[in-house]
Amino acid sequence: MSGETVTLPFEGVAAEPGVPKPDPILVAHGVRRTFGGLTAVDVDHLEVQRGAITALIGPNGAGKTTFFNLMTGFDRPDEGTWAFNGRSLAGVPAHRVARLGMVRTFQLTKSLARLSVIENMKLGATGQHGESFWRALIPPLWQDQEREIEARATDLLGRFNLVHMSKEFAGTLSGGQRKLLEMARALMSEPEIAMLDEPMAGVNPALKQSLLDHVRQVRRDGTTVLFVEHDMDVVQDISDWVIVMAEGQIIAEGPPDVIVRDQAVVDAYLGAHHDAAVSFEEEEKQLEAAEAEEEAALQRQAEVRG
Ligand SMILES: Nc1ncnc2c1ncn2[C@@H]1O[C@H](COP(=O)(O)OP(=O)(O)OP(=O)(O)O)[C@@H](O)[C@H]1O
Ligand SMILES: [Mg+2]
Repeated sequence: MSGETVTLPFEGVAAEPGVPKPDPILVAHGVRRTFGGLTAVDVDHLEVQRGAITALIGPNGAGKTTFFNLMTGFDRPDEGTWAFNGRSLAGVPAHRVARLGMVRTFQLTKSLARLSVIENMKLGATGQHGESFWRALIPPLWQDQEREIEARATDLLGRFNLVHMSKEFAGTLSGGQRKLLEMARALMSEPEIAMLDEPMAGVNPALKQSLLDHVRQVRRDGTTVLFVEHDMDVVQDISDWVIVMAEGQIIAEGPPDVIVRDQAVVDAYLGAHHDAAVSFEEEEKQLEAAEAEEEAALQRQAEVRG
């Protein structure tokens, strides 16, 4: 917290669900997703403020991951509209959403185990002009870009304490290191918004504080952060604004100090036990979809590079 000089735009914004923000980067309206008889997401209205760190909290099964999946094109809602920078994203596939500047990480890491750490990082740069077929035909530009990507990857790996692992297969990393890699890789595409699904889970406590500093740095660099987190100390420490989900709905929003004193939040969440993970099968399904997406990206990149 020390030395934070960021002026934040939440002054005068009421602490109530669906409240409009001064400069929203992401706006969701009437977004619903059901699985059989279960309503996983039922968001009437939600705005995410540009340039801020917003925490999305709520008990297990509240719909947080499903909401991320919907916003980023990994899943489709039954109904509803949502817009990123004023552009509707309905029907836009995940890889294009990422290219537009909205990237997400996964609750369970999906780094490609058979690629090295640095290769994973380079893959994260897709969406830069390197993917343009025509540019790929012009070697000098291409080489410049390769160098730039390499430099950015090394810089980010340094920031996330992974530079010594560059050449290792991602599969050899610890769970916490994979989370770091995934966050670093998400930043390779220089996104406008990074959506992080439990980025601290499994990260060694000694690294947690530096990871929090990295997230603050990401915001200082101009990237909006929306992250899911169960640890309320982390939420209070780092977020400018907190959104609370329960049973698919947004039940509260506000500054962290207001949220922890909100009785509805305490009832829905803080009093509840929230250590269990979602079922393995559900996460596996999401991971498979993500891996398929990633393999497709790899394929496209291979085609471009000939
Ligand atoms: N692919 C799916 N098929 C069926 N049900 C699903 C699927 N994905 C999610 N669900 C259900 O939707 C609800 C919301 O799940 P979701 O994973 O979004 O919750 P969450 O808030 O991310 O929970 P956690 O904090 O445990 O990660 C849960 O009841 C879950 O079982
Ligand atoms: Mg989840």
